[in-house]
Amino acid sequence: MPHTPSPQTFRPAGPLRGSIAVPGDKSISHRSLILGAMAVGETRVSGLLEGEDVLATAAALRAMGTDITREDDGTWHVHGVGVGGLLQPASAIDCGNSGTSARLLMGLVASHGITVSFTGDASLSKRPMGRVIDPLSLMGASFTASPGANGTQCFPLMLEGAHPAVPISYRLPMPSAQVKSAVLLAGLNTPGITTVIEPVPTRDHSERMLRGFGAQLDITEEDGARIIRLTGQPELQPQDLTVPGDPSSAAFFMVAATLVEGSDLTIRNVGMNPTRAGLVGVLRAMGADIEELEPREVGGEPVADLRVRHAALKGIEVDPAVVPSMVDEFPVLFVAAALAEGTTLTRGLDELRVKESDRLATMAAALEAVGVRVEESEDGLTIHGTGGEPLRGTANARIKTHLDHRIAMSMAVAGRASRDGVEVDDVSPIATSFPRFESMLSAVTPRPA
Ligand code: S3P
Repeated sequence: MPHTPSPQTFRPAGPLRGSIAVPGDKSISHRSLILGAMAVGETRVSGLLEGEDVLATAAALRAMGTDITREDDGTWHVHGVGVGGLLQPASAIDCGNSGTSARLLMGLVASHGITVSFTGDASLSKRPMGRVIDPLSLMGASFTASPGANGTQCFPLMLEGAHPAVPISYRLPMPSAQVKSAVLLAGLNTPGITTVIEPVPTRDHSERMLRGFGAQLDITEEDGARIIRLTGQPELQPQDLTVPGDPSSAAFFMVAATLVEGSDLTIRNVGMNPTRAGLVGVLRAMGADIEELEPREVGGEPVADLRVRHAALKGIEVDPAVVPSMVDEFPVLFVAAALAEGTTLTRGLDELRVKESDRLATMAAALEAVGVRVEESEDGLTIHGTGGEPLRGTANARIKTHLDHRIAMSMAVAGRASRDGVEVDDVSPIATSFPRFESMLSAVTPRPA
């Protein structure tokens, strides 16, 4: 179906005030459905993110025989088929815009004796799948992928699962929780021990949740690398899960409240897992006023309420070591940097080039279009901030978001911190991760947008 873009202008609208709760964590939501499907019996999930990406995972699991229902109170029920219980789907699995659905489901399918054709939208069809094809092929699965740019292997593709699959020991060539999770999920229905070696730690939701469902998972450290060993073919136990709020969604409000004078906003129930919470530390190092209230645990994950008040920011050099813990937050950090005093330097961001869009090129162009001085290098951006002066805004240009939800939301935040407003070419991708973003942004900035 051709995509109809939905343009929108975001204008300055005064301080952000009050209290909000952001929707459920996207990464944890996908994994709740997937692991629920692999358990024997009924898993209940509350706080699930009902965005298009997670709904794509639900539809895929249904197409492979899992009964998944939603009650009126928002609780989701997953009637698991057990490890190894997926059935041959009748038609192609459409992952939409979702790289997480694509890569995690490819892992899951790889050790089942079924053949699945995977498709996605224009953005997902450009993203590299070789990173999961490589380890899953070593486990015995076979692939026929579409050729992408520069010799990459892309969607649409056909995956023929291996049964039984072969356990492997795989050292991640890039820091990617999706690749790690794909191998671990394939390892679930593989006899013996599947090992993933992670030289740079990435989000650890899969590990926490696999253990929570009763899988045997041993994690050790050697020479700074994490070694994760999963014992295959466990009987997973159904769980009652509560999904904490998504720090990557909270990020837009953290930055907006920091930038707009007079703001005082509390964001409730934000996931603070150290493998995800890098942005809070970086913003604080730039001078942000973010207070953590009532730290607690929700669904095995650290959570807090964050009170964010407006503060003037200073440019910094961002340590590349923090990149994996805020990999999705760079687009909005760039907006924060655009209003800081002085220069912000970022490096080590090669992975941003293979997200829903090339986020370095897309954000460099977007910030230039609103009047910011930016230099793009191979693996980062250098941003010369305005020192708190509002950004000019788009004037006659329209920001190109390239089907990337986080670009659209980041530039919406830029619009709030602009003089003339920021026009974004297409806000529809926001529904992939944060369907209520625009109404929430209007609600916390009571003057009409
Ligand atoms: C995710 C991992 C990250 C992140 C994505 C969600 C996950 O991708 O960008 O939004 O849920 O595992 P990579 O594994 O490609 O870094």
